[in-house]
Amino acid sequence: MATPNKKATTFAGLDGQDHELEFKNVDIVRHAEGTILLPEGLSLHEAKWWIERRYRDEETKVDVTERLEGFPVDVANAMQVAAKKLYGETAMVASWWKTPQFLTVPIDHKGNTASVFIGDFMVPGMDGELSCQPDANDALVIYGSVKKKDMPIVKRLLDETKVQLKKFSLFRGKAWRIEMKYDQKFRRDTFADPEFIDVTKVPTQLLLNEATTELLDAAVWTPITDFELVKDCDVPFKRGALLEGPYGTGKTLSIYETAKLAQENNITLILLKDIKDLQKIYPLAVRYAPTVLCGEDADLLVTDADGLSVINNMLDGVEYKDKSILLLLSTNHIEKFPESLLRPGRFHTIISYSNPDEDTSARLVQQFAEGHIDHADFDTQQIGQALSGQMPAVIHEVVQLAKLFTIRRLVKQYGRKLKADDPLLQLKTADVLKAIRSMQKHIGLLAPRKKDETAPVSKLGYAIGTGLADKLNQGQAMFDQMIEVVARPNGH
Ligand SMILES: Nc1ncnc2c1ncn2[C@@H]1O[C@H](COP(=O)(O)OP(=O)(O)OP(=O)(O)O)[C@@H](O)[C@H]1O
Ligand SMILES: [Mg+2]
Repeated sequence: MATPNKKATTFAGLDGQDHELEFKNVDIVRHAEGTILLPEGLSLHEAKWWIERRYRDEETKVDVTERLEGFPVDVANAMQVAAKKLYGETAMVASWWKTPQFLTVPIDHKGNTASVFIGDFMVPGMDGELSCQPDANDALVIYGSVKKKDMPIVKRLLDETKVQLKKFSLFRGKAWRIEMKYDQKFRRDTFADPEFIDVTKVPTQLLLNEATTELLDAAVWTPITDFELVKDCDVPFKRGALLEGPYGTGKTLSIYETAKLAQENNITLILLKDIKDLQKIYPLAVRYAPTVLCGEDADLLVTDADGLSVINNMLDGVEYKDKSILLLLSTNHIEKFPESLLRPGRFHTIISYSNPDEDTSARLVQQFAEGHIDHADFDTQQIGQALSGQMPAVIHEVVQLAKLFTIRRLVKQYGRKLKADDPLLQLKTADVLKAIRSMQKHIGLLAPRKKDETAPVSKLGYAIGTGLADKLNQGQAMFDQMIEVVARPNGH
């Protein structure tokens, strides 16, 4: 709408004569189809004046500086995809006077990579060029000097980049490992290339004692698998969960299982290669939130004053409030955690791992035996009892040895070579018990050395189980009993 303005002046019209110009808010509208619309009632003389004015305005140079949050290579990749969508294959040509820089970025665990353009570039229909470079805070900055008329082109590209970044991020909703590295050029720490975790190949199926499974499932996995529902029920995704317990009890395996679930549910999972990078990598987790941020050996952090305050803040600090980050840490040394950190509101859940009980031990034997079990002659109760409280690694060795005993037995019995798929190749109770008996000394030797490494029962009274030495002693008693049982199969 033209708004009359009392001030008037004269100007040279199309006929070269002076014309009086009444100032109005004249809006010259460009349409995508290429038409330019002038307000009704505007004389052609006036139109000439306004168009010239618009021309001068549009030719003015303006500076562009836009920061796009995300991994710089991820944003650059999204911009490439956006440009391709808007302008076709030849979009985003490098400026003619500079060599284009392409960064090779991993895009999956199989070693596939994408080539991502970083540097100066030109976009069709735009005078001048833009540049994209990571800034000191690891965001991607798009900057340059462009004519005002080209600003809609820039805006369109940036808007589409944001859309693509949500849709086709290289990292969002995936599970990856990362560490910080020192950047010689900028003399500062920066993110190293992430390494994607192969979630399709979790090394072993995780088998935990029932109470541990239930807690892990509720406190860590449910917020991942039922993200929306949990949020709607007012349970914040922002939680701190600590997996604690002795060596080799499945804490790392649990993190891998979580990675698999996270990726299946489109939730980012970042596994720190070094727990000391926690604070520096946190902002990355925020950019890709909701994120499960995992770190192992968290005791290394809490024994240092700075590290302790980092974890404290992350769990409880105002700065970190309302961030959709589930912090999942693990430790073998719960006793090194100060009480202040363990109270509810800091770590919301502490999940204690211990060596497998009777039932879990028997299931582990079956799992490690990979189906080579003679179910007609497999006393799960007896085997479970014999192995209850042993480390899964010991159980694994027992099964390997039991397989060897089985092979020996069969070769002797049948006097011929067997193939791995031979139906005869099945472990019987006696094979497993023999393996346990044979390893008894070996396991005994581990006891004094392992004693110190076993997490003592926490001062706070967290039930983390008795020490390994105790378990081995119990095991020893069990073996002694079994030797008797085997020696006297009828129990006499
Ligand atoms: N609960 C379990 N279920 C199945 N396999 C297990 C379990 N615990 C341990 N294992 C076996 O032992 C290996 C080591 O387990 P894992 O790395 O998860 O232990 P951890 O608790 O992280 O030990 P650490 O405290 O030394 O880091 C696994 O790859 C697996 O073969
Ligand atoms: Mg581990």
